[in-house]
Amino acid sequence: MFETLKTLNADPILGLMAEFRNDPREQKIDLGVGIYRDQKGNTPIMKSVAEAERKRIETEITKAYIGPAGSESFNLLTRELTLGEDHPAIKDNRLASVQTPGGCGALRVGAELIKRTNPTCTIWVSEPTWANHIPLLGNTGLKIREYPYYSPKNQSLRRKEMLDVLQKVPANDIVLLHGCCHNPCGVDLELEDWKEIADLAERQGFIPFVDLAYQGLGLGLAEDAVGLRFLAAQTSEMIIATSYSKNFGLYRERVGALQIIAENAQTAQITQAQLGSTVRGIYSMPPAHGAAIVELILGDTTLYKSWDTELSAMRNRINNLRESLSNHLSKETDQDFTFIKKQRGMFSFLGINETEIKELKKDFGVYMVDSSRINVAGINDSNLEHFIESLARVIKR
Ligand code: LMR
Repeated sequence: MFETLKTLNADPILGLMAEFRNDPREQKIDLGVGIYRDQKGNTPIMKSVAEAERKRIETEITKAYIGPAGSESFNLLTRELTLGEDHPAIKDNRLASVQTPGGCGALRVGAELIKRTNPTCTIWVSEPTWANHIPLLGNTGLKIREYPYYSPKNQSLRRKEMLDVLQKVPANDIVLLHGCCHNPCGVDLELEDWKEIADLAERQGFIPFVDLAYQGLGLGLAEDAVGLRFLAAQTSEMIIATSYSKNFGLYRERVGALQIIAENAQTAQITQAQLGSTVRGIYSMPPAHGAAIVELILGDTTLYKSWDTELSAMRNRINNLRESLSNHLSKETDQDFTFIKKQRGMFSFLGINETEIKELKKDFGVYMVDSSRINVAGINDSNLEHFIESLARVIKR
């Protein structure tokens, strides 16, 4: 039976990780996979996370099942972190939420729920979007279409083209938006754009699905959720997928959450039961450990403070790197790279061509995704010079 399976090309991001690992060169630089790295190039366990983990081990008394929705307290704390404590959707009990295996789990459960209620709808994704959005959402059988988002020519938002397309999206279709730190282009929506989209969603009747994978890594925990919170206050229905991989550094523990804002409390209750049954039919229940760590941190003033301080340091490092890359690259290459400091989060497109990307890898051991997406956090004091020199040489060839 299995002999009929076809050979697959490597995943564009995970394949690159493997290639990098096998490269013996000492000066190699990994700007591929989106993982936060500190000044030494490491991805250490955050101190607050290690502390919470210690507490968890000391106090955990059972490994009995937790149920398809996961921990109720984790779900409540997630609501507040995402929407803010006084958000009307929380006060009106219009939320249904489940703890999920990472943001990916949230995206998939969200898509499966959409399929249950509206199997003929289309999910609109930004062009470009994170490569894995397509299989995560599309493998449910739902149709995927794109709306214009990023202009490689101006390194900015194609605002007019985006709104022109969104104003024709039919009722009950889904529009996927990046909450902050757009992956892969780093160009975020401004509050004005969120307002326009909120108006269009209400007028057209489409449902926003926000992927929030980098809260706190752009401008701040609350700042990065401003657009999403506005949208949630204006629209009657909305879906939010949260990932705690990056802002808690819990990548391999797989911690995320899916929240559905329903039109009223009664529909939210029905949706909650439907979410539970969707989860039960895929993986039955989420893993407990990583979510328990997040729950401990979000629910404890001291741990929260120390996590917030660590997260701020990560964010500042990324934003300082953006500033420094933007200045150095513009100076050393005679090209304008100032867009890098205007963008947010871990990613930006360098805008170099395929040949240049290949040469950087082959001749200098500098790895980035084929689209020219770089992970800014992969740069540090010890590799900055090699990166700038290599890029300048390749561009000038
Ligand atoms: C990325 O975009 O590099 C990350 O989100 C990691 C992944 O799973 O692709």
